[in-house]
Amino acid sequence: MVIIKAKDYEDMSKRAAALLAEQIAQKPDSVLGLATGSTPVGAYRELAEKFRRKELSFSKVKTVNLDEYVGLLPEHEQSYRYFMQKHLFGLVDIKPENTHIPDGMAKNIRHACREYDALIDSLGGIDLQLLGIGHNGHIGFNEPAKVFEKETHVVELKESTIAANARFFSSPGAVPRRAVTMGILSIMRAKRILLLASGADKAEIVKEAFFGPITPAVPASVLQLHPAATVIADGEALKECKTL
Ligand code: GLP
Repeated sequence: MVIIKAKDYEDMSKRAAALLAEQIAQKPDSVLGLATGSTPVGAYRELAEKFRRKELSFSKVKTVNLDEYVGLLPEHEQSYRYFMQKHLFGLVDIKPENTHIPDGMAKNIRHACREYDALIDSLGGIDLQLLGIGHNGHIGFNEPAKVFEKETHVVELKESTIAANARFFSSPGAVPRRAVTMGILSIMRAKRILLLASGADKAEIVKEAFFGPITPAVPASVLQLHPAATVIADGEALKECKTL
């Protein structure tokens, strides 16, 4: 695992966008695994800017998102489909049919989960998976648990996750209780992983996840086993990692 210390959020976002742009330059039909949350917003802004400057095209890129809330329509402002449209897909030349997000409205959600894994396989797997990290160490919506859940599945969100995400909703009661997320194996199968972390509120979990034991109690810790994982974090997020 390579850990890169960025100066601040802007620097982290620029470095992340450069890495993603390089991946697309090397393989224009890359399959990108994408993340939501506030952390990758700056990287998406940089990518959209590169597209605007004609330095980058998404015309052949395919994307698979990590997760989606159960029960939110794609048009709902807090759905991850809406988020992706707003922060990236609507700003670049990606083909809508090449963008994939788990279906949180599926009638048979377990079947939809199996289909999502089959879809990732049919695309040839993920070339580069972008990740953020939750305060409890979750990646996607893989919450702390007794075991690593392997495939795409439905999760009951932890109260701490609901509280953390309540800032985007009108009230904590409006946050969906369940979500669909890619599993740990689906994530670990990605050829490369890029995790971003920013801010002092992530400092404790960054230290625990990347310098502590590998355990499903801290889902992101499994990334220590990935052969090509990079973490780009700003000084604040790395302040508890004294050796960096
Ligand atoms: C959300 C998402 C994750 C994200 C995390 C951190 O719950 N499901 O994919 O990484 O929380 O969010 P933020 O970047 O806003 O801190």
